[in-house]
Amino acid sequence: MDPSNLPLVLVSHTLPDGWLDLLENRCRLLIGPKDANELSDELFTELPNAEGLYSLLTIKVDENLLSQAPRLKVVSNMAVGFDNVDVEACTKRGIPVGNTPGVLTDGTADLTMAILLAAARRLFEANLDAREGRWITWSPTGWLGKDLRGAILGIVGMGKIGSAIAKRAAGFGMKIIFSDPNPHKEIEEKFGANQVSIEDLLEESDFVSLHVPLTKQTHHMIDEGALKSMKPSALLINTSRGPIVETDALINALENDWIAGAALDVTDPEPLPADHPLYQLPNCLIVPHIGSATWNTRRRMAERACENLLAGLEGKRLPFCVNPEVYER
Ligand code: DGY
Repeated sequence: MDPSNLPLVLVSHTLPDGWLDLLENRCRLLIGPKDANELSDELFTELPNAEGLYSLLTIKVDENLLSQAPRLKVVSNMAVGFDNVDVEACTKRGIPVGNTPGVLTDGTADLTMAILLAAARRLFEANLDAREGRWITWSPTGWLGKDLRGAILGIVGMGKIGSAIAKRAAGFGMKIIFSDPNPHKEIEEKFGANQVSIEDLLEESDFVSLHVPLTKQTHHMIDEGALKSMKPSALLINTSRGPIVETDALINALENDWIAGAALDVTDPEPLPADHPLYQLPNCLIVPHIGSATWNTRRRMAERACENLLAGLEGKRLPFCVNPEVYER
C-alpha cells in the first residue's frame, strides 16, 4: 500500500528502538519528544488528520484534544491507569480507549515492596546520614526501623497489583488485611488475609499500601481524617496515583507525627517541583513514578499498547478496553 494512504497515528513520546515495531508498515507515525508533559505543538496541529493516538499517562486526553480530532478511531494509553483520559468523552464519540493491565503487575508490586522496606528500615535517612558525615560509629540505637514479620499490612484495593503484594508480603511474614468493594475469598484463604472496612484498615495497619485507581470516589480518599485515624507508628505507601492522598494533609501528618512516615512513588502534583515541602521531610521517601520501570515491563506495556492501537485502527475490539460500552452503541 502507498504509505501515504496508511492511517496517521500520533505517538505522544519518543520511545526506545523496537518498542513500536508492531506498528511498522501498518500506519504512519508522527512521534513527539522524549520528555513532555503535554502533546507537542507539532502533534497537536496534526490532530485533525489522526486516526490513532498512542498516549502516555502525562497526556491529558480531554474534550479540548478530542474536539480537534474528528477522525480519531482509538486512544491507546501505555499505562494500566487511565485517569488522564476523559473516558466518558471518548465513549460519547465512539472512541475505544485501551490500557495495559497485567504486564506491569509484578514490576509494580516489586517496587511497592522495595519502598515499603526502604521506609520500614529508614534507608533514605540512613543513606543521607552516611553520605553527609553523620555515620560516627556503629550505634545500638542508630536508624532503628520496623520489622515486617508480624506487622499488619493494610492493602487498599485488592486488584491484580494488590494481590501480587499480598503474595510478597506473606513471604515476609506480614499479616494482611485489605479493603475492597468485592469479596476475595481466594486471597483470604491463600494468605490468611482478612477483608475489613477502610476505617478499620486505617486504624489497625502498621503499613497502609494504596492500590486503587484514581476516580471521583478515590480522589483524596486519604485526607486529614484518614491520616489522623492511622497509628502514629504507621507508614503510608502510595504506588497508585498521587491525588488519592491529599498532599497538604500528608505534609501535616508527617510534620506533626500523626503517622511515622511515607513512601511515595506517585505524588500530587507530578512531577513534584524541586522546592516542594515534601522533599524537606526526612520521613518521606519519594521516587519519580517508577513502579513499572523495568526494561521488560515497559517494553511489554508498549507492545500491549501497540496491539490495542492496531485493533482500534482496524475497527476490531481492543484486547484491553476500558470502555467496552463503546461497542454497545
Ligand atoms: C500505570 O501504568 O498506570 C503506571 O502508573 C505506570 O507506572
